[in-house]
Amino acid sequence: MIVLTVASPKGGVGKTSVTANLAAALAARGRRVVAVDLDPQNALRLHMGVPPTEISGTSRSTLAGEPWGRLMFQAPHGVRLLPFGELNDQDMQRFEVYLEEHPEWLAEHLRTLGLAADDIVLIDTPPGHSPYLRQALAVAHRVLIVLLADAASYATIPQISRLVDTHCAQRREFQGSHLLVNQVDTARHLARDVLNAMRAAYGPRILGTIHSDQAVSEALAYDQTVFDYAPHSVAALDFNHCADKLLNLLAPPSLLRSFLGQTSGA
Ligand SMILES: Nc1ncnc2c1ncn2[C@@H]1O[C@H](COP(=O)(O)OP(=O)(O)O)[C@@H](O)[C@H]1O
Ligand SMILES: [Mg+2]
Repeated sequence: MIVLTVASPKGGVGKTSVTANLAAALAARGRRVVAVDLDPQNALRLHMGVPPTEISGTSRSTLAGEPWGRLMFQAPHGVRLLPFGELNDQDMQRFEVYLEEHPEWLAEHLRTLGLAADDIVLIDTPPGHSPYLRQALAVAHRVLIVLLADAASYATIPQISRLVDTHCAQRREFQGSHLLVNQVDTARHLARDVLNAMRAAYGPRILGTIHSDQAVSEALAYDQTVFDYAPHSVAALDFNHCADKLLNLLAPPSLLRSFLGQTSGA
């Protein structure tokens, strides 16, 4: 299992849209993908065809002491989703206390899913520091930090990078964090300037940029991914490009094994 945690210092930058569309792009490339919604907004399901009346999810199951196997929702584009579920305020508080007291909660549950070594788990998180982000960082092999091409996002990069380092850097399996700049409007001078500054300061860490494209929000309104709704849109091309780059970065264990097998046999 390869765990990719999607995080951001601010809300509304497009974490959930990125999680849903990247998950679909990776699945379209033949990878088995599980998307995990760790955001109490429970919004990832809206990208995955889950009926809006459905309230089940990992939060409710955890409080009820039930396993996660039956929660897995099969989305039309091949991605499997573990929704967060709906909780009232009181249960939300209980759940967050539970997470603080059980730092291994996510790691233990992911192990019960019986995933293969090269299955990809993409985790959506709420903005900023939270018990949910800490759980998702504790299991991450890589972190995708979603930003906007604006000064406020630029200023938060050192802070979120330090947070990721605190939780991830000491784990041997951690492979690094990447920046994904979303909703880029290249017609705006400021966006171009900030993007250039980001490239100068963090070039190799930038996984890609996603243009601001109405197709992303329109796709959600039609309960689709951007690939179904507008496969030739700029955003669809951008997401495809990011998915290709990601797959190049992830050394697929099966390929690596066969490579090692060949060289050791030579
Ligand atoms: N590349 C994009 N182009 C245009 N709109 C986008 C893009 N990415 C996200 N959005 C829109 O921005 C809003 C916030 O996106 P969302 O994924 O919910 O952000 P977050 O999960 O970070 O709060 C939504 O209305 C979404 O449709
Ligand atoms: Mg979100």
